Amino acid sequence: MFGLGKKKDFTATIVNTGQTFEVKGGINLLQAALNAGIEWPHDCRVGSCGSCRTTIKSGKIKPLNDFSYVLDGDQLKSGMVLACQSRLQSDIEVEVDFGQDAIN
Ligand code: FES
Repeated sequence: MFGLGKKKDFTATIVNTGQTFEVKGGINLLQAALNAGIEWPHDCRVGSCGSCRTTIKSGKIKPLNDFSYVLDGDQLKSGMVLACQSRLQSDIEVEVDFGQDAIN
């Protein structure tokens, strides 16, 4: 079959800085940003600190973990996700607060 098992590459755009970077199939959004030299806020990389949080403005991601352990209901409703626990399912546009501290 065509394409089965092949992971696609997508493009992510940080709308508040205008930066774009490629997200290779199979790697998470945070890792792709760091690979591209972007100083994306992060700490634990395993979905527990919340410092990599970002708001999806358009596009689709696949969560690798349950975000509700770290993000509250309002944040989830506003489209907030954890970049270290997100794989892309389309090109996306996100907003990142580069001045934020970890939630915990
Ligand atoms: S880096 Fe800690 S939740 Fe993503």
